[in-house]
Amino acid sequence: MSASRGQFGSKFGFIMAAAGSAVGLGNIWRFPYVVGQNGGGAFVFVYVLCVILIGLPLIYNEVALGRLTGRNTIGAFKGTGANKFWMITGAVLALCVSFFVLSYYGVIAGWTIGYIVSEFTDFIKNFETFRSAPVYVIPFFGVFMIATIAIVLGGVAGGIEKASKILMPVLFLLVFLVMLRSLTLDGAMEGVKYYLTPDFSKINGSVILSALGQAFFSLSVGWGILITYGSYLPKDQNIVSSGAWIGFMDTAVALLAGLMIFPAVFSFGKNPAEGTALVFQVLPDIFNSMPTGGRIVGASFFLLLCVAALTSSISMIEVPASYLIDEKKWSRKKSAWTVGILAFLVGIPSALSGGASEMFTTMSINLFGVIKTGFLDIMDALFGGLFIVIVALMTCVYTGWIMDINKVAAEIGTGAPGFQKPLIGNLSPLVLWKFFIRFVCPLVIGLVLLSTIGII
Ligand code: ALA
Repeated sequence: MSASRGQFGSKFGFIMAAAGSAVGLGNIWRFPYVVGQNGGGAFVFVYVLCVILIGLPLIYNEVALGRLTGRNTIGAFKGTGANKFWMITGAVLALCVSFFVLSYYGVIAGWTIGYIVSEFTDFIKNFETFRSAPVYVIPFFGVFMIATIAIVLGGVAGGIEKASKILMPVLFLLVFLVMLRSLTLDGAMEGVKYYLTPDFSKINGSVILSALGQAFFSLSVGWGILITYGSYLPKDQNIVSSGAWIGFMDTAVALLAGLMIFPAVFSFGKNPAEGTALVFQVLPDIFNSMPTGGRIVGASFFLLLCVAALTSSISMIEVPASYLIDEKKWSRKKSAWTVGILAFLVGIPSALSGGASEMFTTMSINLFGVIKTGFLDIMDALFGGLFIVIVALMTCVYTGWIMDINKVAAEIGTGAPGFQKPLIGNLSPLVLWKFFIRFVCPLVIGLVLLSTIGII
């Protein structure tokens, strides 16, 4: 590892940074609407299984690959002897996922800034009008990107770790605040019942696919993010317990987000299957109609979304930036500004696809039988869905079958002495993890992918 590379200063700092990356719009904006579209409690049940059985082994895999090589995502594959095929499908595609998701993620995060301002000024009359006005969405998008760049400029311990250590606890506090308000509304229990009572007859292939995709999006698996953050993790830190904390916190925030949103949705007679607009269209109405405290709750909620998005966007920018710093020897300043400005420019069509530009708003693609309309939705379906799942699959096949899996396993065991110790007979967490990376994860992800593409 080069001496000039940054390092996380503490276990708490690493956990906060990685959990900060995981917890984002994916938990608070995306998770509730996907639950609403997939029938409530049954989806929540499948989602939690996906996180524990598939997500957790992949978190260990990616963090360990990063720490083993001490390099960025491209460097991690190159340094372990990957050929062109694995470089492209595992490393380059991961870089693309982080960069292109950042480009539209920043647009959505920009909307949250608009909603914070609107809680004090009332300038947003309805979501559709706001979203279609470039004079609002582009500057808010720009402000969010500049905030992201500013934090990344501070480096690993000074910027990313420091920001996450402050922002993550604030986020938890705000989640609790809004959840308590939501749970004390009239009729809130209807929403809790919808959200937490699984109807197992609702589980089918498409529910499993949505759950798997949502788990990867949310855990930051398949983006190159965990490889990059893993490369900043000192050798004496315990990957096993840190990874478990990251998975636990990410899932806890998603589950709490559901408890914030569904009681309110039911209390005010809204439709839980509203879709991507759930947060931005339904919640402001709910906040406005609260007899007291609506503005405070509303402003806190959107502040919470913005904070969550910021600790995720800094991890997305870090993936390509760390490549430029390590491999191209660029300065951190030049790398962060270049990636940030390019992502902003690439994000402009997404910003204009909410009604401002007819071309970007109405363009559509048919992705394996599902029509996606609008530039932002197309980007989300490709980079935030399909490609993440492909990268996650390729990375686990690469470490499981192509490079020496024992090296990755030994890296997980470094700093985690219990990892090699047998639990029953000679079955240790290590043996179990290897079985999951070589067989369970590729098989499940592969089958889900093939069924999406329509091959099976
Ligand atoms: N994992 C991040 C999120 O959930 C990107 O938003």
